Amino acid sequence: MFITLEGPEGSGKTSHIPPLMDYLRAQGRVVFATREPGGTSIGEQIRGVIHDLKNTEMHPRTETLLYQAARAQIVEQVIQPRLKAGEIVICDRYADSTIAYQGYGHQQNLDEVRALVKYATGGLVPDLTLLLDVDVEVGLKRKRNDADWNRMDAQTIDFYHRVRAGYVEMLKHEPNRWHAVDAGADWQSVQDELRAAISSRLPAVHLI
Ligand code: TMP
Repeated sequence: MFITLEGPEGSGKTSHIPPLMDYLRAQGRVVFATREPGGTSIGEQIRGVIHDLKNTEMHPRTETLLYQAARAQIVEQVIQPRLKAGEIVICDRYADSTIAYQGYGHQQNLDEVRALVKYATGGLVPDLTLLLDVDVEVGLKRKRNDADWNRMDAQTIDFYHRVRAGYVEMLKHEPNRWHAVDAGADWQSVQDELRAAISSRLPAVHLI
């Protein structure tokens, strides 16, 4: 099973992944977590270029392509082999981030961006995408207190409103794949809802 976590800035998704892994491992499942952009040596180097605050001149098309380069590598090197081995893979952001940020946020042509994403992923679509939805202002306020402030956090407020609207649009179009959680709620309720959403899609395990 391939699970992705998505959300606007400051949705808190990253903090939910280690406890989700503990929860699944306690059931005897083999689970691996990774993140985008990154997750491979090449991907982490590309992440550095994309997020570098010095790279103010980066064009949205360059940015879009760099995300796809990192993605192609993680799909081939990490995600596909683990899925083929029967593992659960959880990825902190994936292809939908490109549609939300580069497509809706930077207002790049959505059909063209979707075609690039398909090429980069080889057509690999998550089984479940968890959207941690949070009010844009609340999320940005949380993010400002984060040590990992990067170039993608320094866009205009309208950009982040378009990103969030993009996520809501995707959720509407593929309600079976997406599950939205109110990330403005207290941390434990968010974690519980994420666990429930994942569990409802996994086959039952019989602990001996
Ligand atoms: P994060 O590690 O805080 O999630 O930061 C990753 C940043 O990269 C976040 O601002 C979203 C952005 N991003 C894109 O714009 N497009 C993408 O395809 C991905 C994977 C991330």
